[in-house]
Amino acid sequence: MPLETVTTIADLRRRLLEPRLAGRSIGLVPTMGYLHRGHATLVDRAREGNDVVVVTVFVNPLQFGPNEDYARYPRDLDADRKLLAEHGADIVFAPSVEEMYPRPVATHIEVEGLSARLEGERRPGHFRGVATVVGKLFNLVQPTRAYFGEKDYQQLQVIRRMVADLSFPLEIVGVPTVRDVDGVALSSRNVYLSPAERAAAPVLSRSLAAAAEAIAAGTVDPLDIEAIIRSTLAAEPLAEPDLVAIAAADTLDSIDPEAPPPAIALMIAVRIGRTRLIDQRVVAVS
Ligand code: PAF
Repeated sequence: MPLETVTTIADLRRRLLEPRLAGRSIGLVPTMGYLHRGHATLVDRAREGNDVVVVTVFVNPLQFGPNEDYARYPRDLDADRKLLAEHGADIVFAPSVEEMYPRPVATHIEVEGLSARLEGERRPGHFRGVATVVGKLFNLVQPTRAYFGEKDYQQLQVIRRMVADLSFPLEIVGVPTVRDVDGVALSSRNVYLSPAERAAAPVLSRSLAAAAEAIAAGTVDPLDIEAIIRSTLAAEPLAEPDLVAIAAADTLDSIDPEAPPPAIALMIAVRIGRTRLIDQRVVAVS
């Protein structure tokens, strides 16, 4: 079936009524567009596991801070539609801001605790904006499964918690980060990088690999792990670390080296020039 583009909530609901009543499974891939191979992997997973695949393309103003890149966030719906058609998506839902938020939003979803820590401390209100739009998309699409990249690791944990707390009847599927050959995690924001900045970007995954190696060799003290990440990043003059977080992979709680968790999540945000890149890795503790 050719890809259908839907821009209104009423049309989306109308279009999904029949498959839902027929008991067909619906896979949802929420995105902010400017799609790359990482998104394509999410769509492929949704295609494998569901009868109907819905991809949303919406740059959600609620999750951007006043000094962030909402206005200049890259957008290209024609290219997105081409990629989605190639990967067999059925429907792209690409609403306007007015369609999603016809009046100032008074009702938000706040996953307390988890949203305020780590990346949430750096970006106040960010996870509230994410949880609110994702909750709304779940409500509109009523998917059987929804697919999210592990690159935004804290976002994935926030969404899992929201789904559990609010009993959304769906399965959340986390999909491993997709990387370029030099290890750089794919991100729509990579387009901002100059050639010199792009050449510096592999330092993020290198710093995580160094930490993973140390954990495999028995290092579990978060201060030691952080020092390894920071010293690797320090070797790249263009890289300015904004966040280096080491936490229990399942709860994002801080780590007691005397009682380490079964797996450790490493999460970093690094400025390269004007661009803030993030990366993550989950490492089992042996
Ligand atoms: O990860 C993203 O692209 C966004 O945060 C999401 C989940 C689509 C919500 O706007």
